Amino acid sequence: MSREFSFDLLKQDDQSQARRGRVHTRQGTIETPVFMPVGTQGTVKAMLPESLKEVQAQIILANTYHLFLRPGHHLVQRLGGLHRFMNWDRPILTDSGGFQVFSLGDLRKISEEGVRFQSHLDGSSHTLTPESSIEVQQALGADIIMAFDECIPYPSSREYVLDSTRRSSRWARRCKQAHRAEDGSALFGIVQGGMHSDLRAASVEDLLEIGFHGYAVGGLSVGEEASLMYDVMDWTLPLLPADKPRYVMGVGTPENLIEGVSRGVDMFDCVMPTRNARNGVLFTTFGKISIKQARYLEDPLPIDPACGCYVCRNYSRAYLRHLYQSGEILASVLNTHHNLHYYLHLMEEVRQAIEAGRFLAFKNDFYRRRQAATP
Ligand code: GUN
Ligand code: ZN
Repeated sequence: MSREFSFDLLKQDDQSQARRGRVHTRQGTIETPVFMPVGTQGTVKAMLPESLKEVQAQIILANTYHLFLRPGHHLVQRLGGLHRFMNWDRPILTDSGGFQVFSLGDLRKISEEGVRFQSHLDGSSHTLTPESSIEVQQALGADIIMAFDECIPYPSSREYVLDSTRRSSRWARRCKQAHRAEDGSALFGIVQGGMHSDLRAASVEDLLEIGFHGYAVGGLSVGEEASLMYDVMDWTLPLLPADKPRYVMGVGTPENLIEGVSRGVDMFDCVMPTRNARNGVLFTTFGKISIKQARYLEDPLPIDPACGCYVCRNYSRAYLRHLYQSGEILASVLNTHHNLHYYLHLMEEVRQAIEAGRFLAFKNDFYRRRQAATP
């Protein structure tokens, strides 16, 4: 196994910016474009690692903020690192805490040094800095580590966006200095700049000067219209080097993934498939359905007749509705399995379409199928 992180650009679509690539990490290879299931607490909720492999998860995401507070990165390190701790032997990407800490609202205070915050668990006080975030992520044993940044709220004044983006650039430089690259882990920078094209460009310029293994676009899916999110991708992605992976953080719906791929995104993560599953919202080739609806009371069909997943091969909508209405644990297990299969299978189809030079046709089909009525 190679210890070196690298990215191969295998194919560039000629009718869009879509790309087919391969990310090599010290823990294995990732075929891109890829969707990364979210495992905030060192578990993708309701999924055994074996089930994650069954639905073809290639890499999962874990959170610095949560694992730092509980059970603590030193404990995880003493137990052999996060891979062994959670029994997951494929790549892990950790987010830096730059998103979770900033979601705490009044419970945090930002300074040049970092962010002082109170734990959402017990109110205890802690500080995360660029240096400590990298230290925590390296102690956890993440294969891809994210720079410590501020995910800027939307809307914010241009003045605030400018100040925050500049600070995130200074923090990014400190992250690069703190990163011990000898262990083979990769460090990604995160582009900020809010909804301003010139500030996005300035952020990219700062990060390129520092130099990272890959580049993420942050500060999206923060309440803006989808069209504005696509504008930000249109301004930002062409400025990023073609020979490095590009990751759009916290995005999104199946439509957002297709639109992101069209614009040149290689990596995505989002709680949407897993969180929606636990709320009874299921993704299908003909759009979203809510399994609690009375129309599914005696429906013998699987969630999606076009889906080949374990759940759709074995269970009716009527049974899944019953489990959900009864508050059964198995409802979360089966719904999550189906939704992750849907997202990961969609990305597999996207990769095959790009390879075969028929991504645009695939995209048109994707939208056409969603016009159809629920079978
Ligand atoms: N997750 C979603 N958006 C962001 C962001 O802007 N920064 C970080 N660190 N994580 C994110
Ligand atoms: Zn299914």
